[in-house]
Amino acid sequence: MRIIRSVAEMQTNALHLQAQNQSIGFIPTMGALHEGHLALVRRARDENDAVIVSIFVNPMQFGPKEDLIRYPRTLVRDQAALKKANVDILFAPSTEEMYPAGFSTFVDVPSLNKTLCGPLRPHHFRGVATVVAKLFQIVQPTRSYFGEKDIQQVRVIDRMIEDLRIPTRLIACPTVREKDGLAVSSRNRFLSRKEREEAVKLYQALYLGRELVSQKIMTQSKMLVKRLTGVLATIPHSKIDYIAFVDPLTLEPMEKVQRPALLAIAIWIGKTRLIDNVVIS
Ligand code: PAJ
Repeated sequence: MRIIRSVAEMQTNALHLQAQNQSIGFIPTMGALHEGHLALVRRARDENDAVIVSIFVNPMQFGPKEDLIRYPRTLVRDQAALKKANVDILFAPSTEEMYPAGFSTFVDVPSLNKTLCGPLRPHHFRGVATVVAKLFQIVQPTRSYFGEKDIQQVRVIDRMIEDLRIPTRLIACPTVREKDGLAVSSRNRFLSRKEREEAVKLYQALYLGRELVSQKIMTQSKMLVKRLTGVLATIPHSKIDYIAFVDPLTLEPMEKVQRPALLAIAIWIGKTRLIDNVVIS
């Protein structure tokens, strides 16, 4: 596995692969790799000639009060995991490489920023879209792999690819979960043992919500949210950011929940913010 830190060198290599008609599978990450990331890598490995993973903790997508400094950095371990997964290139640029002095272009998808995490993290998706647009230019991927755990991110990138006619195919991959159902996440490591035990209720709430809708027991969003709030409120030191039933494509809120719908939840447990979602199809 080659490790490339320079933007110019990465781009030259990608253009070279392209000229040789090699398909490129790309997985953008912020490192602290876990089974969720590795599932995307394996899928890319199966479907492409070359696999490129990026590790870049993107300051632009963190708010001023968010956990940029606390974000876990485990590059040595990550490198070993990627090597084992047969990745061809690890692209790990510095912040100065990605955002040299004078950088001032943004990519924004405001129509998808109005619900779920958008209002709570006002510049987050602008930061994501901007860095991913830049990474696409540098890596020239044939296929790009994203996790459905971050469903709003998937929708934002999808829209951006379509609107800007970026020549890559977005492949959305199912959420990888722990045995008890909790979605695997880099932030799970911040949960204490007790918090980790309680966190399973996030999955239980999603599951309950899906059952209530699927079996037509409840259809009013307000009632459903109330019921799920009851489940989540039993988690000590928790604060619900949102419980939302939305259209799976536009992410617009639904008053009367009809299938297909997306149930998305964001919750703080202690000092850790967790998000998860389930499609009700
Ligand atoms: P990061 O949080 O490192 O996630 C990288 C990719 O892994 C994302 O597409 C995310 O959805 C996916 N992923 C995370 N947990 C997963 C799980 N349990 N199952 C399946 N996929 C999972 O998302 C980002 O980084 C950044 O916003 C990025 C796209 C790299 C832009 O900076």
